[in-house]
Amino acid sequence: AHNERESLYIVLNFAKEFFVKNLQTEEGKSIGLSYFKERGFSPSIIEKFDLGYSLDAWDKLLIAAEAAGHSKELLIKAGLILQKEGDASRFYDRFRGRVTFTIHNLGGKAIGFGARILTNDKKQPKYINSPETEVYHKSDILYGIFQAKKSIREQDNCYLVEGYTDVISLHLAGIENVVASSGTSLTENQIKLIKRFTDNITVLYDGDAAGIKASLRGIDMILEGGLNVKAVVFPDGEDPDSYARKVGSSAFQQYLREKAVDFISFQIGLYAEEAAKDPIKYADLVKQVVQSLSKIPDPIIRSVFIKKSSSLLEMDEDILMTELNKILLKSQ
Ligand code: UTP
Ligand code: MN
Ligand code: MN
Ligand code: MN
Ligand code: MN
Repeated sequence: AHNERESLYIVLNFAKEFFVKNLQTEEGKSIGLSYFKERGFSPSIIEKFDLGYSLDAWDKLLIAAEAAGHSKELLIKAGLILQKEGDASRFYDRFRGRVTFTIHNLGGKAIGFGARILTNDKKQPKYINSPETEVYHKSDILYGIFQAKKSIREQDNCYLVEGYTDVISLHLAGIENVVASSGTSLTENQIKLIKRFTDNITVLYDGDAAGIKASLRGIDMILEGGLNVKAVVFPDGEDPDSYARKVGSSAFQQYLREKAVDFISFQIGLYAEEAAKDPIKYADLVKQVVQSLSKIPDPIIRSVFIKKSSSLLEMDEDILMTELNKILLKSQ
């Protein structure tokens, strides 16, 4: 109901403000704020993204929210508290002793949170995130879209990264047209969301095996959505956040300008070395490029990229066309 969504926005805003205020408490300053400082996050970026801190206790948010008149039922529906297993009369905060990243909808309202652990304790998940709720549909939203939308339109391009901290670091490096898929695979609705502001996406996923695999899948999804896509590869073990901090803003911006390549060059760059040594690997690369070509809905754009593939792969255009038509027929 309309009323329930409104109540959810109100309680989520309460939680956002609570986490933000916690950063100024003794505990918040010594743990949360110092963590952000160590990562190079400035006070103004902390404010811009509503970064905060969830106190290291069982039910500080619950107590404050109830005192402010919010019901347990609503706090549960908002994904902010959980019912204790085996004792249904007890409730506790979902986010505890973590720094918090507010997830905003397109209009800037808080709809959920991601919360990062501060230690290197491998037994606990690095991030805990809000669950799906009536106002937070993970597959429909991208982290950072509210802060990015104006710049995406102005730059006519959207950088797509994996993580919360990648978004923040790019803003610090002077790049504001950036959103994160938050570690889950890109959806059709997320691509449609970007398409409201631009037809161009540049994928900046982590420089590890998982990131590259996700880039390849993301690229095909983006092509299928009728958008233009480029990608940048980062050195192994680096992600946009770590790399931006390592090389500095201007070198990072230059890296993006110089290394952003179309999807064909991206795939060739990944596999050229092994393909040069092994004809079967070469054939696999060609087939993979043709798979991607088959996703392009616009026949003219497709044809332009077939020509480019033919020349870059040194493969006869007719052969690419034949293979492509097979795939297109199958998918009908
Ligand atoms: P990463 O593992 O690459 O983390 O996951 P990160 O963003 O680089 O974070 P830092 O720099 O170590 O702090 C990428 C994204 O995947 C989601 C988060 O959205 C994260 O930003 N993720 C990752 C989770 O939701 N849960 C996890 O336990 C790990
Ligand atoms: Mn809904
Ligand atoms: Mn990663
Ligand atoms: Mn990462
Ligand atoms: Mn990182």
